[in-house]
Amino acid sequence: MVSYKELGLVNTRAMFAKAVKGGYAIPAFNFNNMEQLQAIIKASAETKSPVILQISKGARNYANQTLLRYMAEGAVQYAKELGWRRPQIVLHLDHGDSYELCKNCIQMGFSSVMIDGSSLPYDENVALTKKVVRYAHRYDVTVEAELGVLAGVEDEVSAEESHYTKPEEVIDFVTKTGCDSLAISIGTSHGAYKFKPEQCTRDPKTGKLVPPPLAFDVLKQIEKKLPGFPIVLHGSSSVPQEYVDIINTHGGKLPDAVGIPEEQLRKAAKSAVCKINIDSDSRLAMTAAVRKVFVEKPGEFDPRKYLGPARDEMVKLYKHKIINVLGSDGKAK
Ligand code: G3H
Ligand code: 13P
Ligand code: ZN
Repeated sequence: MVSYKELGLVNTRAMFAKAVKGGYAIPAFNFNNMEQLQAIIKASAETKSPVILQISKGARNYANQTLLRYMAEGAVQYAKELGWRRPQIVLHLDHGDSYELCKNCIQMGFSSVMIDGSSLPYDENVALTKKVVRYAHRYDVTVEAELGVLAGVEDEVSAEESHYTKPEEVIDFVTKTGCDSLAISIGTSHGAYKFKPEQCTRDPKTGKLVPPPLAFDVLKQIEKKLPGFPIVLHGSSSVPQEYVDIINTHGGKLPDAVGIPEEQLRKAAKSAVCKINIDSDSRLAMTAAVRKVFVEKPGEFDPRKYLGPARDEMVKLYKHKIINVLGSDGKAK
């Protein structure tokens, strides 16, 4: 058993309390490889933003669970090397789907876990979440739970349709489980195709899809039921059209990719939403940069020459999110 405290990591408790009070949100960025991790840490260190490093089950399978955990430990030292004297870094399991997986991550040094029982019947979600909370709290590890279903398909996270969180259930759920934060469904979804074209309108000038607004009325009702309780938004990539266009003009094919407009995320960040999950935007930044090098320099075969520009682009993206969307810059000085 390794405690996250020995690794210089923190849990989400104080971080979320400050964010809810201060009207900003903490970025939760997924990573699967060294370049993503370097970019996240560089962007956070340069902006002095608290940050949540997220590891999904898919990432553990792709990169090896042990290696990822040591990379996260290294990230704390890297942050200090970059001049961030007191880094506030959370190591979080994204979409944990079993008690055993959560327990294993806690034993490996994670400071926070998500138990995603959102696809289970209500009572089973309560029972599973409660069991994880009981174990996690013994080690001062914080737990994110989920109520309501997000649509969207990714490697490990898939659902055909979304069901908004029912505000009438949240008090009972939070009281019974003792979870530290709650992921809700208000219209966001995973991946780069968050809305079907028929759910959107089209901008007559650009021909681009304009998505429908998030269900802020549901968020408001939840906030009323749980004043000051930390709320989490998954599926919050904006799918920047600059990246989609670069990808599509450099041999890629992402027709009608669409995300959550940034002004809606800005509005959410000012509310009780204090954790905003972003993965797809980083994938798009990386893919756009790599495709550009492949098209413009077909003779290039040194991975550093295409992963380097991809990493630079991700630093730009993460800093933009921190400063212009979530407002978390300067909150971990
Ligand atoms: O919510 C899902 C995250 O984007 C992780 O995706 O399961 O493909 O690693 P993944
Ligand atoms: P995106 O696919 O919108 O980036 O969402 C990521 C996420 O919710 C990770 O849990
Ligand atoms: Zn998610």
